[in-house]
Amino acid sequence: MIRKTIKLLIASWLSVLLVSQPEVHALSLSHDRAVPANLIQYILPRFSLKTRIRFDRVESAGDLRLVTQQSTRSVALFSLASGETVYLEPNESALNDPDYLGFVDWLLSDPGRAAIADFREDGAQIAFPVAAIEEAPVQITIVGDPSHGQELSVSHCRRCHKVDRADKYSGIGNAPSFHAMRSFDDWFLRFSTFYTVSPHKALISVNGSGIEKDRELITIAPIDLEMTDINDIVAFVHKLTPLDLGQPIQFNP
Ligand code: HEC
Repeated sequence: MIRKTIKLLIASWLSVLLVSQPEVHALSLSHDRAVPANLIQYILPRFSLKTRIRFDRVESAGDLRLVTQQSTRSVALFSLASGETVYLEPNESALNDPDYLGFVDWLLSDPGRAAIADFREDGAQIAFPVAAIEEAPVQITIVGDPSHGQELSVSHCRRCHKVDRADKYSGIGNAPSFHAMRSFDDWFLRFSTFYTVSPHKALISVNGSGIEKDRELITIAPIDLEMTDINDIVAFVHKLTPLDLGQPIQFNP
């Protein structure tokens, strides 16, 4: 009896959950006559396959429109053989919709641009993606003292990382060498925040970082640093020659 009641309770609770789920609502999408329907038919499934985001195709208007008229909200996507440019224009309410944002991101990404350029009509390319936007180089300011950074790196990081390329016997297998990491686009961010991620979290305390450590939990010789030490390490790494990334990345060369 009790079991039955529990089952019933669970069932009704589940159905409440299911019913109260917000209805999945797909954005609607239409396109100007100038935009070839076959092209859209080619692009959309490729996007949906990747992201599971779908749009309801509508004849006109809709949340998103592929148009040949530029407006303040529109994003340029590709030009047609006729010379016209095709824009994606969201209406006001779709502007911050994650599905719309995901669609724009994808359309401007390498795979999205490739899908647009790959489409053929009578064997010919008809849509030409807009030039990729050059990302503005990240402005970084080096404020630390590189020689102190080097001392710190050798005394604290060399246990696990190869810090100096000439040093054959340092570094453990799963810790990337400093030179390899220096070649990552986001090396600056990584070296400015390494103490917040594993495995460092468990052994490195940075005074002034706002991250409190329970010393009892640090089982191996703890490393104590100051915020200025982080700047010094960053300044040291900044001076390292990045590995040539012409080849696939080797993590511990
Ligand atoms: C106990 C070994 C150990 C010590 C000591 C150590 N590291 Fe690491 N570090 C690692 C390992 C292992 C990884 C790779 C983690 C991963 O791939 O998830 C790593 C990753 C990193 C990364 C990349 C983090 C990211 O966001 O991908 C940076 C930067 C870094 N270490 C800097 C340092 C610096 C600077 C020191 C010295 C102050 C140091 N490490 C000390 C083991 C260590």
